Amino acid sequence: MTQNVVREIVSNNAVLYLPDGQTIELPVITGTENEKAIDIGKLRSQTGHITMDPGYGNTGSCQSTITFLDGEKGILRYRGIPIEQLAGNARFTEVAYLIIYGKLPNQQELDAFRDSLNQHALLHEDMKHFFSSFSGQAHPMAILSAMVASLSGYYSDESAVDTNGGLDVNAARLMSKIRTLAAFSYKKSIGQPFVYPRDSLSYCANFLRMMFAVPSRDYEPDPVVVEALNLLLILHADHEQNCSTATVRTVASSHASLYASISAGILALWGPLHGGANQKVIEMLEHIRADGGNIRKFIDLAKDKSSGFRIMGFGHRVYKNFDPRATVIKNACDKVLNKLGIEDPVLDLAKQMEEIALSDDYFVERKLYPNVDFYSGIIYRAIGIPVDMFTVMFALGRLPGWIGQWKELMDDPTHRITRPRQVYQGQTVVDYVAIENRD
Ligand code: ACO
Repeated sequence: MTQNVVREIVSNNAVLYLPDGQTIELPVITGTENEKAIDIGKLRSQTGHITMDPGYGNTGSCQSTITFLDGEKGILRYRGIPIEQLAGNARFTEVAYLIIYGKLPNQQELDAFRDSLNQHALLHEDMKHFFSSFSGQAHPMAILSAMVASLSGYYSDESAVDTNGGLDVNAARLMSKIRTLAAFSYKKSIGQPFVYPRDSLSYCANFLRMMFAVPSRDYEPDPVVVEALNLLLILHADHEQNCSTATVRTVASSHASLYASISAGILALWGPLHGGANQKVIEMLEHIRADGGNIRKFIDLAKDKSSGFRIMGFGHRVYKNFDPRATVIKNACDKVLNKLGIEDPVLDLAKQMEEIALSDDYFVERKLYPNVDFYSGIIYRAIGIPVDMFTVMFALGRLPGWIGQWKELMDDPTHRITRPRQVYQGQTVVDYVAIENRD
């Protein structure tokens, strides 16, 4: 029988028997939550073998101290603090500080961080001209990513690798300017003048005012709306090595700039299988409603692989029980809509869809549950955020995670450029054929 699997785990080493008779002992790394990883760093040099793991479902790319999640138990913690506690008590700026710097800020540290955010809220005036160059059809995620990349043309981030000061300035710049960029791209899309940031407001209220005030009428942010936004941003703030964060780390590993790395992360987030799902969920639910509201029909469609249709906002690579963020958001949905006096028929459709899916063998067997994106769009819509801005909101929330993970990578003296290998399955050597002799 071919022996090509890890056969034994002896104390802190795993022993791997290969089909050609080789044996190799590999170190096992154990995390603080008792997660175990076989360190294959010497595998190729000692045996000539690599591992194969498309989609990296079984591959650890780093050791991190930022976020812990247990997909089987539905646990999510930032720097050890359960997401439910943060969602119920914290401000987004505190959580951002926690993720980037590793501890909850004391009052003095938080005040300094907020001052810094205020100091960096304005864009260079020249950058405003960029907005007029985008077509009216441009998706706000395309604008956001381009604008974040272009920040490197205005602000040097070379000192960002000096995490004792350079990063502080660049982190605050990004955290603050992304909010201004997001609001300006919305204003551009609806043809209204830009509204400048106001220092006296909180992070979320400031953003909402830039979105919804007009020169002829100021905007007083409703505390219910501010709280809802604060909650959503916290829930999105980090999620360990997801697609966009892995992208940020990959780009950063080549020592590309902080702005370039984050801009790439924004683009990875945009995809409908990742952060873009929040927009797709609402579009799907609206489509189902317009079609007569027959949920069963769409559940059956999702089960039929030839249809190419998936229930957006369902399923997760890591969560195989429930997504704790979805649980918090679902509860918040009812509260926020009630407080704002809004009845959204799409919320009822979403709940029906969840109920039917969760009692259907297809979804149960595959452990497909609503993820963070399933209910978030309903709150965003209730607080006035347009549908094509939903993924931008996700990016605003995820930014501290991207910055924190970028910092962690840069602080790690052992980090190497990300460069996976492949198993080549193409033609073996063939001779070049002159064009006149080709078929
Ligand atoms: N609807 C119907 N079937 C699904 C769904 C879904 N939403 N998600 C997964 N499945 C099925 C797959 O067809 C597959 O079935 P099979 O075993 O019969 O082939 C099985 O469940 C496993 O799915 P994979 O695609 O292998 O799971 P993976 O971990 O690679 O993908 C993902 C996870 C991308 C989230 C997937 O569940 C999906 O496409 N969901 C819809 C998009 C979405 O909501 N994305 C947001 C994720 S959360 C976030 O990124 C913020």
